[in-house]
Amino acid sequence: MTGETAGGRADAAAGDASRGPQDRRDERDERDARNAQDWRGWRAAMAEALYGPGGFYRRPEGPAGHFRTSVHASPLFAWAVARLLCRVDEALDRPPRLDFVDMAAGRGELAAGVLAALPEPVAARTRVCAVEIADRPAGLDPRIEWLPEPPPGARGLLFANEWLDNVPLDVAEVDAAGAARLVLVAPDGTERLGPPVAGADAAWLARWWPLPAEEGRRAEIGHPRDTAWAGAVASLERGLAVAVDYAHTAHARPAYGTLTGFREGRETAPVPDGSCDLTAHVALDACALPGGRVLTQRDALRALGLTGARPPLALASTDPAAYVRALARAGEAAELTAAGGLGDFGWLLQPVGRGTAGLLDDLFTGLTAPAAPSVSADPADPAASSSLFVDVADDEEQ
Ligand SMILES: C[S@@+](CC[C@H](N)C(=O)[O-])C[C@H]1O[C@@H](n2cnc3c(N)ncnc32)[C@H](O)[C@@H]1O
Repeated sequence: MTGETAGGRADAAAGDASRGPQDRRDERDERDARNAQDWRGWRAAMAEALYGPGGFYRRPEGPAGHFRTSVHASPLFAWAVARLLCRVDEALDRPPRLDFVDMAAGRGELAAGVLAALPEPVAARTRVCAVEIADRPAGLDPRIEWLPEPPPGARGLLFANEWLDNVPLDVAEVDAAGAARLVLVAPDGTERLGPPVAGADAAWLARWWPLPAEEGRRAEIGHPRDTAWAGAVASLERGLAVAVDYAHTAHARPAYGTLTGFREGRETAPVPDGSCDLTAHVALDACALPGGRVLTQRDALRALGLTGARPPLALASTDPAAYVRALARAGEAAELTAAGGLGDFGWLLQPVGRGTAGLLDDLFTGLTAPAAPSVSADPADPAASSSLFVDVADDEEQ
C-alpha cells in the first residue's frame, strides 16, 4: 500500500562512515523539505505519474509491455465485441455510418481486432475511432482514426476496456480518532494523512463507500470516474456504451481499498514516479447512469456466444487439426470467462437514446449458455456458433 519508506533510505545513508551526524541531519532535513513540497493527494500524483510528461502511459512499450488485458489474452474478445457491435447496428436499424469507439485504446489492439472481425458489409459502413492520451502507434491500420477525445455525436458502440481503473482518484483513510482523512503521498510512495475528507469527496463516500470509524480502513473516492464515464457516455448520440473493469459493488467494498502498482508483469507497491501503472478497482455501480446494468464478463461473453466449452472428442479422429485449433480457442475462452480471473470483471452496459433499452433485454436477459463461436464465425450472424463446441459444466471450464 505504500512505497519504499523514507526510513529505509535514511538507514542506508546512516551506514556511510564518511558522513557525520550533521551531514545526515542535513540530508534528512533536505529530504523532508523536498517531500513537504511534493506531498499531495493520490489523484494529483496519479495524474502526473500516468499521463504527465514522461508518464507511465506515454512510454513506448504501451500497456501490453506491463500487463495483459482481455484484449491481449485472445482475439475471441475482439470477436465478441464485434458481435456486440453488430447487435447494436441492428438495434439502430443499420445506419449509413456506424461508429465503434475504442475508449482508452492503449495501442489500438481492440480497434484493429474488431475491424478485422467485422463482416465486410458492416466494416464498410463502420467508422472506427481509437481514443487515447498516448501517441498513435506506428503501423496501425490507416482506417482507424486516432483521437484525444471521444468523437461527439457517435452512433454505435463505445467500448472502454480497463480505462476507469486508471482514472486518477483520491484515497481516504480513517485516523485514530475515527475520522476519514485524505491520504497524501510523496514521489517515493511514502504516505501520510492529510486534511479531513470534505465536500464532494465526503458526499461521495457517504453515498457509495461509507467508512466505519475503524483506524486504517481505506476507500478510493470514485467521483472522478463517475464524471469521466458520464462524459464518455454523453459523447454518444445513440447506441451502447460499455465499461469493462475489475470492479466492486456497494455490498462488497474492499476494507482497505485496492490501489496498487504494476510493472513488467508484476504487482508492485504503488509509487507515483512514472515507473509503474497505478490502478484501483472500480465502483462500477456508482458510475452507472439511469438504465445502466452491470454484469460479470463471464455472463456478458456467454450471452455473446463465447464459452470455454471444449470440442467433442470425436472431432479428434475425424479432423485432428480442427480439433487442436478448437481446443486452443476453448482454452482462450476459458481464460476470458474464468472465475477468479478475467471472468469476474464487471461489464457496465449503458444504453443511450431511442430504441436501445430493449437491446440489453434482447442480449442479456435469461442468459442461456449458447454454443461458443469459432474465431472465423460471422459476428453479424445471430446464429453464429460452431459445431466444433459442446457446452460443459462451469467447474470443468476452469
Ligand atoms: C490499462 S490501459 C487499457 C488499454 C486497452 N483498452 C486494453 O484493454 O488493452 C489504459 C489506457 O487508458 C488510456 N487513458 C487513460 N485515460 C484516458 C483518457 N481520458 N482518454 C484517452 N485515453 C485514456 C491510457 O493512456 C492507457 O493506454
